[in-house]
Amino acid sequence: MLSSTVALAAVRFGCYLALLLLVGSAGLALRLSADLNATTERLRANAVRLALIAALALTLGRIASLYGQTWLFFGVDEGVDAETLRIIAMETTWGAGWRVQFASATFALIGAALVRTHVNTGWPILGVGALIAAGSQSLTGHAVEGGWLSPAVFAQSVHVAGAAIWIGSLLAIFAVVLRRKPDRTLVATVIERFSPLALLGAGALLFTGLTTSYLYLSSPADLIWTVYGRVLVAKITGFAIITTLGYHNWQRIKPRLGDVAANDELRRAVAAELAVAIVVLVATAFLVVLPLPAASM
Ligand code: HEM
Repeated sequence: MLSSTVALAAVRFGCYLALLLLVGSAGLALRLSADLNATTERLRANAVRLALIAALALTLGRIASLYGQTWLFFGVDEGVDAETLRIIAMETTWGAGWRVQFASATFALIGAALVRTHVNTGWPILGVGALIAAGSQSLTGHAVEGGWLSPAVFAQSVHVAGAAIWIGSLLAIFAVVLRRKPDRTLVATVIERFSPLALLGAGALLFTGLTTSYLYLSSPADLIWTVYGRVLVAKITGFAIITTLGYHNWQRIKPRLGDVAANDELRRAVAAELAVAIVVLVATAFLVVLPLPAASM
């Protein structure tokens, strides 16, 4: 049982990472299109390639989660075959949410493949696919227990979108721009454009995270006395560390961008922010499969 929980959490974590990267790299590619020159053109092509890899990983991750959910439901006795997979995908509430997630990931994959082959109609397909992929993440978590139109589903959809806008963009900027040591003015421009997005994403993430916590916890004591609460505290701590690092980058490093030392410092600081974000995502992957505090009493 423990190993299947870990395996399911690992698949869920992989989907989170792919989803965040998909939204972040698609957004970065679009923003780089605003002022194309030889350097930005190359970086934009890299961002599109990253979006394609992320969409493929997300599509495969969705297939793996259907397999995992079917295994969890039917267990070793009945096993996983075409019929049990069909039952979970087509006849359960979980399956209804999964179908939206799978279709949107495939849609984004087709869009990214078209953009990669210079077909411009791929852009809206990629954009819509990535947005629905983020919005539908909550349809297989705790949120959906109150129905698709519940406040929890709304809060969680905005929560995941906020995470994708903030952490996803940071992941894409790190992989496409910072890691490659491009010219310093480009780094300054990209970071200048990223700052308002980061503020928006982090604000939405905090507000909806608090709203969901209020909906899911029966009292603040749950934060100490339940496993769910303790994992949530770990997440909130991670969030506090990332925002502190981000604030430091914004106040201390951003004004100096342009000199070599500041660029190197930024690369290290962003790598540290992303490392903590990965820990937060691992914690989230477990949180979503733990019983809610009210249910575990
Ligand atoms: C960098 C910071 C954060 C990231 C990347 C993040 C990401 C996520 C993701 C991807 C989900 C999964 C939704 C799903 O699969 O249905 C989630 C759920 C959740 N998040 Fe966050 N989050 C962050 C910060 C926070 C904060 C600060 C709070 C609380 C104040 C919070 C509270 C929650 C809660 C309660 C859930 C619902 C889990 C469940 O279904 O039981 N998150 N988060």
